[in-house]
Amino acid sequence: MYYGDLSDSEQISNVIYNIKPDEVYHLGAQSHVRVSFEAPEYTGNITALGATRILEAIRRSGNSIKFYQASSSEMFGASLPPQSESTPFIPRSPYAAAKVYAYWMAANYRDGYGIFASNGILFNHESPRRGETFVTRKITRAVASILSKKQDSLFLGNLDARRDWGYAPEYVAFMWKMLQNEKPEDFVIGTGESHSVREFVDEAFSYAGLDRDEYIKIDPRYYRPTEVEELIADSNKAIKKLKWKSEIKFKELVKIMVDADLRAYGLEPFGEGDEILKKKFPNRWWGVD
Ligand code: GDD
Repeated sequence: MYYGDLSDSEQISNVIYNIKPDEVYHLGAQSHVRVSFEAPEYTGNITALGATRILEAIRRSGNSIKFYQASSSEMFGASLPPQSESTPFIPRSPYAAAKVYAYWMAANYRDGYGIFASNGILFNHESPRRGETFVTRKITRAVASILSKKQDSLFLGNLDARRDWGYAPEYVAFMWKMLQNEKPEDFVIGTGESHSVREFVDEAFSYAGLDRDEYIKIDPRYYRPTEVEELIADSNKAIKKLKWKSEIKFKELVKIMVDADLRAYGLEPFGEGDEILKKKFPNRWWGVD
């Protein structure tokens, strides 16, 4: 294990020099959209310039190193759905603007210096390992916490926002696939379905037999100055060229995440989420966490 910091180019160069990697998967970022409004400069430094620092270290190393840039569906921002590789970027947050910059740096290092650099434009991908301040995990954790009698309300922001939510392990497998492609190119990845935050709440609470109206409260603190209303992936390029297929659909994802949080709280999972994973990924380590 080597340690580094995306704000420190010398350290990054040293790590690239010492490891001489074949492939770099660059997922590091200040990745929380709401936080980026509070810390716009820091977000630019880490999320935008961090990518440049790695790309520059790769270029200077002179080694043949493939580079994956974790681009984001947030880059589409106000562009109407469905969004594909040719949809214009209209970023709606400091985070999204920083990701657009990093996207173009990867494309420029590919075109200018011949580096094998590919952008995966990934729509929201979730799992039991999702950070607790992102909305999906916040909701599924709250369900477990309410059932454990540790919490009696859940404060959320905009319930009308719509996202294309998929299961993260499948997306990570596709990142690897992108770097095994014969040439570097960009791909949009998502499920092709959108659902509102309200639907996510409904699904999670009804799976647990809870009445959402008893628990959900709105706190404007979680509103964003500018919001992304709706994201739906048009992944046709990935489906045709690299056989992308999302196995886990919305309702299944909710159940997987609720079951995992119940277990984390020492409660008995309802079991449907575990069953889905066993059925769909019988031989994969990511089946049941
Ligand atoms: N976090 C959060 N907390 N979001 C809330 C809440 C709340 O209490 N209430 C409503 N929301 C709404 C947000 O306004 C947003 O529209 C939606 O729920 C999803 O918010 P997040 O889960 O924070 O994710 P995100 O869509 O902003 O960004 C995530 O996905 C991107 C890919 O599209 C992050 O993982 C980004 O790093 C990633 O690029």
